[in-house]
Amino acid sequence: MPDHNQLIAAHRMQLLREQINLHNHRYYTLDSPAISDEGYDALMRELLQLEQQYPALITADSPSQRVGAKPAAQFGEVKHRQPMQSLDNVFSPTELLEFHRRVSERLNTDPVEYVAEPKLDGLAISLVYTQGVLAYGATRGDGMSGEDVSGNLRTIRVIPLKLLGTHVPEVVEVRGEVYISKADFALLNVHQQQRGEKQFVNPRNAAAGSLRQLDPQITATRLLSFCCYGIGFYLGAALPPDQGQVMLQLKQWGLPISPQLKILPDILACQYYFKEMEAKRSSLPYEIDGVVFKVNRLVDQQTLGSTSRAPRWAIAAKFAAEQATTQVLEIQVQVGRTGALTPVARLKPVFVGGVTVSNATLHNEAEVKRKDVRVGDTVVVQRAGDVIPEIVAVITALRPESVPVGVGEFRMPDTCPICHSPVVREADKVVVRCSGGLYCPAQRKQAILHFASRKAMDIQGLGEKLVDQLVERGLVSSVDQLYHLKAADLISLERMGEKSALKLLKQIERSKTTLLARFIYALGIPEVGETTSESLANHYASIENVSRATSVELQQIRDIGPVVAKHIEDFFRQPQNQVIIGAFIKVGIQWSPGQAPVETAGVFSGKTVVITGSLSHYSRDEAKAVLQAAGAKVSSSVSRKTDFLIAGLEPGGSKLEQAREFQITILDEQQFLAWLGEGGKPALTSIS
Ligand code: IVH
Repeated sequence: MPDHNQLIAAHRMQLLREQINLHNHRYYTLDSPAISDEGYDALMRELLQLEQQYPALITADSPSQRVGAKPAAQFGEVKHRQPMQSLDNVFSPTELLEFHRRVSERLNTDPVEYVAEPKLDGLAISLVYTQGVLAYGATRGDGMSGEDVSGNLRTIRVIPLKLLGTHVPEVVEVRGEVYISKADFALLNVHQQQRGEKQFVNPRNAAAGSLRQLDPQITATRLLSFCCYGIGFYLGAALPPDQGQVMLQLKQWGLPISPQLKILPDILACQYYFKEMEAKRSSLPYEIDGVVFKVNRLVDQQTLGSTSRAPRWAIAAKFAAEQATTQVLEIQVQVGRTGALTPVARLKPVFVGGVTVSNATLHNEAEVKRKDVRVGDTVVVQRAGDVIPEIVAVITALRPESVPVGVGEFRMPDTCPICHSPVVREADKVVVRCSGGLYCPAQRKQAILHFASRKAMDIQGLGEKLVDQLVERGLVSSVDQLYHLKAADLISLERMGEKSALKLLKQIERSKTTLLARFIYALGIPEVGETTSESLANHYASIENVSRATSVELQQIRDIGPVVAKHIEDFFRQPQNQVIIGAFIKVGIQWSPGQAPVETAGVFSGKTVVITGSLSHYSRDEAKAVLQAAGAKVSSSVSRKTDFLIAGLEPGGSKLEQAREFQITILDEQQFLAWLGEGGKPALTSIS
């Protein structure tokens, strides 16, 4: 039984927490303090003293908890209840108009109202508030799940530990960007230098690095900021009907939103806003790389829906690419996965588009000729968004006169610079390939890296350095030999301990159970990317069927044209590829056939789902079919491999218990429907 004094203390502590949180909000977010520093300190001291006396009464939303968290050994994983999507980009006013045309055609209205705000250059974060209290926060990760960085997010003063005001829903997931201001970034680098530590290349990296600090005490010194731009998952209480009002609601809950946010009546106003922000860009205290426009009405957002990657109701209009001049030190030739030779300019390092660039692709020989790039030239380098840096032009006026004609001019070699096999020119004369095939170590390395990559077989830990060694020591001469590696082979490699060797072997073993689409993609057939692989898996359901298909049949599939069809046919006609596929099956690689149609691939794609209890919207069989259509594998029992348990009414006790034990995400029917909403069904609780 709590004694009388404790009850009084609890009451007083709650009052203090509320007052301090309010003052924090006024000071950090609104920039209008309503108390002196001394007055604030006195409140804080009183709270800390009471918390020391009654540690059991410390709550998660106490302002004392901002820097209290201990360093973590590693971050936990958080599955996002609603996938965190990316944005499509446009790079010109015409492309922005095209975006608007698509929107307005689909909605069958014009004008369309948009909400506009700057595109902050930081990193996406999800904050989950339960009953108004910050429960946890996570990075975007791969969009489906991210890292739990709650301890670090708590150190960011503008993030409320408890939502203010009324209409606070049961659960609300707030989305926004963590960033660092230009000034704090500069300051941080001065400190880094003083401590003899490495400099951060740009504010975005600094923010990312700070947020991924295992010790929140360090994050707390990094002066991170946060600005929110939407809502993800949402449960209980009704939402206002449009994005602008949702943003206002977020503001009323004490969350920081962009002071530049505007509601615009039509696309013309958007174009004007873009120009205005472009002019303001350099005077803003933080980095922005463009403007985000969002369709204002939430019903319209739902009508428009999303592709597997990005919503159709939002667009990022990027600012013109940043350019800089530098010098070409050398032109080297790289050999890619399919043997294509690519000339690459080695540059005198230059800061452009927010990063230091020291290489730029020259695409092919014809391009080098067209631009007339030579060693020693001064060139304009461009880095647009995340696109690989390229040389836009040569400043010929600056070409050194002393260089005799012909010197520095580029010529494609006749033999592969890596394996010295002769090179062959494709019929188009543009692409030049090494004829060495998998004999060429460069191609072999790239093939292995592609095979192991995240979207292919997802063998984590098999990086470039390791693959270099595996190939150079002759341990892996064809991709299937990865599955014959022994711990002893790996331990003999540089920087490989027993522990990491075993970990890698486990990853390799784990990769054996996969999806047909991933397996097809992993084969590295020229021009066959993720989407085509998915279409093939959906259409043919088995590797035997795909390999028997003729070019003509293949072209019946949406998105497959004659060129891609020919590549696929050629690939499977080659005996050595059949041998490799046979070898993969022999080592035990297995896959489930079905995959989601491309449009819905993002929702439950590749996820293992178990259903328990009864649902009101669907019979068990219907639910199963709906899930499969959204890319899920529906299983009858819960295991560690299960991604989601969908729990209807009167769920079976043991499934629920097991799901809790394995920390599997449990969705109730409403949440399940909301997830499906992404794939075209009405979204009940999702709005962002
Ligand atoms: S809306 C469903 N608004 O840009 C898409 N994103 O390139 C939700 N970003 O991952 C994103 N400022 O990290 C939105 N005002 C803004 C933004 C913004 C920056 C980031 C965000 C997103 C990335 C996509």
